[in-house]
Amino acid sequence: MAIAIALILLLVGSILFHFLSPWQLTPLASNWGSIDDTIGITFWVTGFVFVAVNVFMAWAIVRYRWRADRRAEYEPENKKLEWWLIGVTTVGIAALLAPGLFVWASYVTVPDDAHEVEVVGQQWHWGFRFPGEDGSFGRVDTRLVTGDNPFGMDASDPAGRDDVLVHGSRVRLPVDRPVKALLRSRDVLHNFQVAQFRAKMDLVPGQLSYLWVTPTRTGEFEILCAELCGIGHFAMRGMVEVVEPEAFEQWLAAQPTYASELARAAPDAAAGKALYTPCAACHGAEGQGNVQMNAPRLAGQDAWYLIRQLEYFKAGARGAHPDDTHGQQMRAFAGMLADRAAMADLAAYVETFPVPPPVISIDGNPQRGARVWRNCGACHGSEGQGLQATQAPRLAGQDDWYLERQLENFRRGIRGRHPGDAYGWQMAEMARLVGDEEATRDLIAHINTLALTAANRQDRATDLARRTD
Ligand code: CUA
Repeated sequence: MAIAIALILLLVGSILFHFLSPWQLTPLASNWGSIDDTIGITFWVTGFVFVAVNVFMAWAIVRYRWRADRRAEYEPENKKLEWWLIGVTTVGIAALLAPGLFVWASYVTVPDDAHEVEVVGQQWHWGFRFPGEDGSFGRVDTRLVTGDNPFGMDASDPAGRDDVLVHGSRVRLPVDRPVKALLRSRDVLHNFQVAQFRAKMDLVPGQLSYLWVTPTRTGEFEILCAELCGIGHFAMRGMVEVVEPEAFEQWLAAQPTYASELARAAPDAAAGKALYTPCAACHGAEGQGNVQMNAPRLAGQDAWYLIRQLEYFKAGARGAHPDDTHGQQMRAFAGMLADRAAMADLAAYVETFPVPPPVISIDGNPQRGARVWRNCGACHGSEGQGLQATQAPRLAGQDDWYLERQLENFRRGIRGRHPGDAYGWQMAEMARLVGDEEATRDLIAHINTLALTAANRQDRATDLARRTD
């Protein structure tokens, strides 16, 4: 009897949990209501079977409990019962599978009026490409991927010239218009998922997969990678912003095309020298950094990272937080640079600075820090040399007091949470993994040891030699 009561309690508890739990489907934001319907049908069928089987077991336990005057009877053949069981199971399985087949058929049949966007996944962020005015995508090849050409664009294909390249994990889509998302991976398996769209699909290296969806309401919806793809998988998120069609067209027109990226003039370090004058007051004449002025070392940092941060400061994606007092100062200086070309000139000049040995001011346990570092090294490079492929800057040789402050800023949401900061979001998540202040100091103590490795010095020496050639 106790077991029968326990079964019924479990049954009632499960049903109550299903209806009362806070973990329900997020409100739908696409045409895929049919996917919700199939989920609903699946729950009803499996729920009915779950209830029926448990009630039958509880009833059988009570009804056929042991009594001295009763014996069990063995009945290997019961045609009537078997027909019933086969019939009911067949109906149940068909009810589970059939709706899915219909939904799948429409899921893989893209409407003719759908516009296209290409979604490129990599460890551990997203990029997006629109076909431009000619309506067709230019050729791409993974072998052409470099730090400056993350999409692997083939410069010899004229169709690619007007392609619109969206770097970073935020994209906009127009409401009420079907869109076909072509999915491509640069490295390993990923999975593009937007929960509110009820749509997801794997990105398979070497293949082009797709899904289509019609966003039905405006708003911001998070893109999740739903395939375990390495150490930073959990941080591989993005945002799709569904907006009115006019706002979408405006935004799209403001994005750089491949042609405009190709047309960028080579940066001019000599022009950058003049632009550097106001920077020197805080960062030092050779970008050596100055802790009294709260100005980090610039010498040794890669140009692509400096340009991006200057763009962020200027646009308010960094330094606009009310608690970021030092960042606010930088905003004023970044605002003095006319455009991206000026930033590139400035960064090219900074790259000519010699790299002095690091100044170590933070004490910690580098052995303990090395364990945390494994997470960081996945993006920043095992030697902290910085990797443009993952958009992670050089950390080795950077001022340790500055690293500590930035980790704190990321953790507290002072940096990295602005929608314009395409890669800061990841760091904000990562910074929370580091732990308390002591763990942060241990980590930074480890980064300080990286600065001294021969590999880094070698890197730097070859870099400089190449540049002066
Ligand atoms: Cu990409 Cu998980």
